[in-house]
Amino acid sequence: EKVIVNDQIMNRSDASVDIEDRGYQFGDGVYEVIRVYGGQLFTGDEHLNRLYSSAEKINIAVPFQKGKLQSMLNKLIKENDIIDGSVYMQVTRGASPRNHVFPGEDVKPVLTAYTKVVARPEASLESGVEAIVADDIRWLRCDIKSLNLLPNLLAKQAAKEQGCYEAILHRSGTVTEGSASNAYIVSNGKVKTHPATNLILNGITRQVVMELCNDNNIPFSEEAFQLDELLEAEEIFVTSTTSEVMPIIRIDGKVVGDGKPGPLTRKLQSLFFEKIG
Ligand code: PDD
Repeated sequence: EKVIVNDQIMNRSDASVDIEDRGYQFGDGVYEVIRVYGGQLFTGDEHLNRLYSSAEKINIAVPFQKGKLQSMLNKLIKENDIIDGSVYMQVTRGASPRNHVFPGEDVKPVLTAYTKVVARPEASLESGVEAIVADDIRWLRCDIKSLNLLPNLLAKQAAKEQGCYEAILHRSGTVTEGSASNAYIVSNGKVKTHPATNLILNGITRQVVMELCNDNNIPFSEEAFQLDELLEAEEIFVTSTTSEVMPIIRIDGKVVGDGKPGPLTRKLQSLFFEKIG
């Protein structure tokens, strides 16, 4: 198995990072998860653009041009024979003696990437899954895909301990997004999701879903909604790179709609499937 460390593709067993890497000590870095379908990066360009944009927002200069990174990732996928899977990549501010203050120019960012075989979650996509609601205790720059995921992990773990797949987060009653996904409701026949502000990550899957709604005359609005609207929604779904368009059929133990994935969720699932197929 091969991995990328900076500009090298090497055996995973030969890869190492410094114990004072700032990603390791401070979570001082950004990441992306990109889906691979049929041996090809899906929306690779959009993910790479977001990586560069997240990095720029915290003043990290990604150590290569996008084209070079893209070709290295493609090479990695080939060498590891990934047909259906994902690429994880992160860029940290680099390794230097621990100090909250950023290191000098001589300290270079550290980029790592590896691949994984991942099957589509077909059974869950078909049946739908359950979610809890949880307080959104994150910081105010959720638009940055930062390595600091502790609040997300706590929410996801709470969901798991209640036999659920995802935690849908809210700030004082306003629904923001899932712990690792964007969240949507269908209310009066219209799909709603939180606008792309500093309070959510503007998911690439979210952008695909918006475009699908647009192109297929599905009523859609980027409009924040409250917890009570969530609990009364006709349909609920979440989206992410790995979850695709995932129906939520129970929220905090309460049945959503008739307890089956709803018609607009199904429609978006099939449009999404066409897009990746
Ligand atoms: N998570 N919101 C949050 C907080 C996320 O962590 C993610 C993705 C999304 C959806 O973004 P996208 O559609 O671009 O995957 C929204 C990834 C998959 C993860 O951390 O594993």
